[in-house]
Amino acid sequence: MAMSGSAIGLGNIWRFPYLVGEYGGAAFVLIYIMACLFISLPIFLAEAVIGRRSGSSNFGAFNKLVPGSRWRWLALLTVFSPFLIVSYYSVVGGWATGYLFKSFAFEFSKPTTEVIGMFGTFSSNVWMPLICHTIFLGLTAGIVAHGVKKGIEKFSNWSMPVLFLMILIIMIYSLSLPGAEKGVEYLVKPDFSKVNGRTVASAMGQSFYSLSLGVGTILTYYSYVSKKENILVSGLGTAAFDLLFAIMSSFAVMGAVFAAGIEPGTGPGLIFESIPFVFNTMGQQMPVISSIVAILFFLTVLISALTSAVSLFEVGVAYLTEERGMSRRNAVIFEFVAAWLLGALCSLSFGPLSSFKIGDLNIFSLCDTLASNFFMTLGGFLFVLFVGWKMKRSDVYDELTCGGTQRLPVCLFSFIYFLMRYVAPLVIGIIFISGLIG
Ligand code: TRP
Repeated sequence: MAMSGSAIGLGNIWRFPYLVGEYGGAAFVLIYIMACLFISLPIFLAEAVIGRRSGSSNFGAFNKLVPGSRWRWLALLTVFSPFLIVSYYSVVGGWATGYLFKSFAFEFSKPTTEVIGMFGTFSSNVWMPLICHTIFLGLTAGIVAHGVKKGIEKFSNWSMPVLFLMILIIMIYSLSLPGAEKGVEYLVKPDFSKVNGRTVASAMGQSFYSLSLGVGTILTYYSYVSKKENILVSGLGTAAFDLLFAIMSSFAVMGAVFAAGIEPGTGPGLIFESIPFVFNTMGQQMPVISSIVAILFFLTVLISALTSAVSLFEVGVAYLTEERGMSRRNAVIFEFVAAWLLGALCSLSFGPLSSFKIGDLNIFSLCDTLASNFFMTLGGFLFVLFVGWKMKRSDVYDELTCGGTQRLPVCLFSFIYFLMRYVAPLVIGIIFISGLIG
């Protein structure tokens, strides 16, 4: 549940639906599944093998498996990148919190002109986004402070089923709206003419992002997993839940967007600009129902972001407690303060600091670009290379079969190993270089 919580997040709600529609509907979903199975899942397994074999989080893991090797310095990068991501992810999580408050206050029922300009007004304001960022990061830190079992697992165990139930309700409601069939058509019509190199690259990038790879969250979570747990089964389970949620939110979001007759967009604009407009349109005839659905929707966004943020936050805490000897409480406070400060700069980069730019990126986009285009792919490359080339083949086999107690046909293992050793590093290397040259 915790692993699915890490995977299921904003990427499922704001990126996947758009990519499906843009890149050929069912054709894209098929390519996405292939990309998951042949590229992202091997990287997922690589992180899992390193984490569980070593029983340590990112930095310590490399040192334990190959003592004194220089790999651990590279691993420091994967301690830094989840910290970087959680800082700006928390700003977006804060926006979701703010929009939840707005739905309680019936703000989407205001005159349409106000709703259209709402996101610009909200995000460029100094205080409200900062307060919301503080609340979101505080909730994240609060869950992590309770520990892995009593905090993260307990929260995920009840929140994940609730999340699925909520998205199911929203999806059914959304598909029952007049005009929603156009959204369904946008999503399901297989259009192979839209399939090209970019489609494949987007499918790979999305599956990588959606499974939370490359920053050691999966690695850290697996360092807590029992030696009896079958990694292959839990990996496939996580990927399946993640895909199911992405498909359900696609119907939920696009059904409503098309029913309201607006152009589907991507990124924050989809959730914070298009969707409020949907509630505004619906609210003309059914103000009460539309407010209830709005509350459900932003609660879904908030909880899905929270379970992802928790996994990012835990990596830093694991490093500070395991390697720096801090208590969990102090580690949480330390990371909270540091991530709050960086997040605050990201938040202000939509308002007073908007003219501060490096290249043409503001602070928020700079953090996002650095993390998504460089650190994540570099990290994924590093993990899979380590398992494929540095670890012993027999150790990898041993880990995937739980010390030989679980069945794994040798030919299947050889295939997975081949993917880890050659295919995944090659493909992710290409993604990294294409990211570098834009
Ligand atoms: N998978 C998350 C989502 O779909 C986002 C994400 C990317 C993430 N990389 C991560 C979450 C690393 C946790 C850890 O929104």
